Amino acid sequence: MTQEKKAFTLLINDQEMQVSTVPHSRLLDVLRDLNFMSVKQGCGTGDCGVCTVLLDGKPVRSCMTRVEQAVGHAVTTLEGIQQDGKMHPLQEAFVVTGAIQCGFCTPAQILTAKAFLDENPDPAEDEIREAISGVLCRCTAYVRVVEGIQRAAAVMRGESVPPVEHIAKLLPEDVSQIDLPEDFLRVDGGTAPIPPLVYTPEEMTGMKVVGKPIVKSDAPKLAKGRPVFAGDLKMDGMLHGVLMTSPHAHARIKSIDTSKAEALPGVHAVLTYKNVDRVKHCSGGQSPPKPLPYDQVVLDDKLRFVGDRVAVVAAESVEIANEAIRLIDLEYEVLPAVVDAEEAMMDGAPVIHDEDDTEGIYDAEHNIVHHIEKEIGDVDGAFAEADHVFEGTYRTPKQQHAHLEPHVTMTWWDEDDRLVIRSSTQVPFHIRRMVAPLVGLPVQRIRVYKPRLGGGFGNKQEMTLEDMCSLLTIHTGRPVLMEYTRKQVFTSSRSRHPNVVKCRVAVKDGKVTATDIYTIGDTGAHGTQGLTVQMAGGLRGLTLYNSANARYVTDVVYTNKPPSAAFRGYGAMQVQFGVEVLMEEAAEALGVDVVDFKRAHWIRKGDPMRMAVALGEGREGFAQSLESGDYGQLMDIGMQATDYKNKHASYREQTGTIRKGIGFSVTMHGSGVAGLDMAAATIKLNDGGFFNLAMGAVDCGTGSDTILAQIAGEVLGVPAEDFVVCASDTDHTPFDKGAYASSTTYISGNAVRKAAVKVAGQIKEHAAAMLGMDDPDAFVLEDRKAVAPDGQFVTFAEVAMSSLHQMNQHQIIASASHMSYHCPPPLAAQFAEVEVDTETGQVTVERMLMVVDCGRVINPITAGGQAEGGMSQAWGFALCEDMVYDQSGKQLNTRLGPYHIMKSNEAPSLDAIFVENDEPHGPLGAKSVGEMVTDGGAPAIVSAIYNATGVWARELPVYPEMLWRLVNEK
Ligand code: FES
Repeated sequence: MTQEKKAFTLLINDQEMQVSTVPHSRLLDVLRDLNFMSVKQGCGTGDCGVCTVLLDGKPVRSCMTRVEQAVGHAVTTLEGIQQDGKMHPLQEAFVVTGAIQCGFCTPAQILTAKAFLDENPDPAEDEIREAISGVLCRCTAYVRVVEGIQRAAAVMRGESVPPVEHIAKLLPEDVSQIDLPEDFLRVDGGTAPIPPLVYTPEEMTGMKVVGKPIVKSDAPKLAKGRPVFAGDLKMDGMLHGVLMTSPHAHARIKSIDTSKAEALPGVHAVLTYKNVDRVKHCSGGQSPPKPLPYDQVVLDDKLRFVGDRVAVVAAESVEIANEAIRLIDLEYEVLPAVVDAEEAMMDGAPVIHDEDDTEGIYDAEHNIVHHIEKEIGDVDGAFAEADHVFEGTYRTPKQQHAHLEPHVTMTWWDEDDRLVIRSSTQVPFHIRRMVAPLVGLPVQRIRVYKPRLGGGFGNKQEMTLEDMCSLLTIHTGRPVLMEYTRKQVFTSSRSRHPNVVKCRVAVKDGKVTATDIYTIGDTGAHGTQGLTVQMAGGLRGLTLYNSANARYVTDVVYTNKPPSAAFRGYGAMQVQFGVEVLMEEAAEALGVDVVDFKRAHWIRKGDPMRMAVALGEGREGFAQSLESGDYGQLMDIGMQATDYKNKHASYREQTGTIRKGIGFSVTMHGSGVAGLDMAAATIKLNDGGFFNLAMGAVDCGTGSDTILAQIAGEVLGVPAEDFVVCASDTDHTPFDKGAYASSTTYISGNAVRKAAVKVAGQIKEHAAAMLGMDDPDAFVLEDRKAVAPDGQFVTFAEVAMSSLHQMNQHQIIASASHMSYHCPPPLAAQFAEVEVDTETGQVTVERMLMVVDCGRVINPITAGGQAEGGMSQAWGFALCEDMVYDQSGKQLNTRLGPYHIMKSNEAPSLDAIFVENDEPHGPLGAKSVGEMVTDGGAPAIVSAIYNATGVWARELPVYPEMLWRLVNEK
């Protein structure tokens, strides 16, 4: 029943405003209806804090505050803290310190910090962490947020502050002589933010734009809370789409009657499997041909997990749509469900995909989607001859991305009757291609673009809302906005594949002679990306130590849980956890030093990556070798920075209840998918001498728009700010596969570099003609000028003026694309220091330090942000993040609070050291960094727990109770 509206008078940002709304409305909705779009919805349950505003100067969660509670009080939103159009010191500090990645939490962080600093102008660091602990951030791990608040506090106290810089050092030939800044030794512990440290070999110095810690180009608008996210747009006549989800893990719809829902005033469409075409597809945003099976349809009469799609409604408001959903008459035939992957493979288990129109399931009777066996050398022979065989079974959790911006899509018909999809997607071009057959439109009648993304981490590589939202617009003719609730992000979107990883190594004469890995990947109700995730995991896991005799067998298995799909780390996190822990277990059992043992086996520069051909992503791969990077260098630096050897030896001797531990892992990832990923870019010179950079690459908050402009700027001799970046829009930018597979810096960066080289050639040619010279190649581009060998020059503004208006008139513009058969692995040594309470099993991580080789570091602050955020997600994977299900398949922790991602007051010190290498295939020597930084955290933490307690935690997350049992059993 629709409630009567009432008038309220609110004081918002010092202005009195009249509001007409229903009693008890959430202040969050009232403020957003008034276009205060800096106020974000992240959960609606008071867990995440991104809706925080100030009430009489105190932070409150606007999702938990009723409009009546705001009457008579002063409400402040981020829009209200600027003075005379000038950013508040907190906004300025967040911009320059790199405290903003996706920026979805930023308005709430800034307001909370403002309230705190107003009361406590000179706080200690731990007080800051406590003060902001109610506002979650999934991207930054809070390192730069704390730094930003410290900086703003200093400014507000009238102190001068130095420029924000990383620490740059020359890399000596012999890293045993490394000159480590004292902060990096963390002698007194603590979590004070320290800048990223970059070691550069002499021969790699001399860059002018690349390697500089310039501010992310989107940071100012994010700091101001501008309406830049998918849910921030409103249109006349806009309807709200709401998804009805399955309450059962496995059921068939026996009957469904939507007539009462359709008759409800304000309802414009109700879609079910009965009125939507059954087109088989796969929701993963990947380049075609995607591996079979295509086991999904938009809406089905069979439901395979709690949260599966039942119906979708378009109505005048979310409330009316929800009322319509309550009016749908449904009868379910509830079927037996299976939620454990190993049980799902057994004879007699419920068959999840028994439909007859899905092709390509390996063994539907046993719910096995894919079964892969790959082997090189003679694995059985090596095991038969081994002196020792070590084996272990390792289990990893169903981790959720927990990006703070839920999935949001808006669709409408444009004036040319083309369907526009504005979506929080990592893959606009894939979405365009995938949606077309599902909605019955040719691809050319669809435009997809993404605004700013509030984080993605792989979850937005899937088509989640775009197909349903498009169909609602097609059925109603109206703009439609759809947004998952936080509960639906958990129950209806995607997660990481839980894995069972069974590893064996054969050792003869102290050397590992064979590695044998079997994994079971739980893909949930659909196989999307199951094959590629498991194959990528096998490749990374087996390449670390690169056995000449190696076998990888994997089963990808359906269960009645939400589909697993892409998540930062993409299989590598799971398999490397097993491999790294088993290698340390083997060293311990052999009584040899674990560093020496791993050092004797890890892959070295020049080595072929032996499994690269057998384990492509979903198909045969390409021959690869490691052409840059050195684990020895990374380990040696990391050991000095952590005093690893001394601590490791002394901690082994501990007794007592509270014990320290230190551990490490080595890790690797890839850079793009070899032979498949393609990206393109266009650069255009404009009047005035500035450039447009149009590209399909998607910035999810990582800073890719900025670092790609830095690459172009380095080539063209201009600062990154001279580029107006447009990315990504299927109508207005060239193709890019999207943001996934650690491909943006490497693949998109190479496309940008090539386009810049072409534009540079055109500028030189025109400049030479302007100066009457005949050797354009002799010109140098620097400081926005084309400079001839004799010192004469023309500015880019003059080149633009001449080429566009005066002489040999033409547009200086170039496009380029890039695909690579090389997939250079970035490498890292990850260290962790813990404290374990053996009476409770509680593990407290005190420090994580990552020493990273990502080739050339394009921007030290954004790269450091990736490392810090990646380690925080690895921390959660290791210690607390898991989607927990009961036997019926119902998830028990569908709120961010109980699910538990890292808060600011529980974050350890998170430090990053970069060791630059010149990757021959990378743009200006760069490799990827975004995913590898998550891969090594869990084994390093488990290694440290072993150092503290002498027990191996082979199952993640390491819950206190589980560790307590292990310690007590020992
Ligand atoms: Fe905090 Fe993305 S920057 S959630």
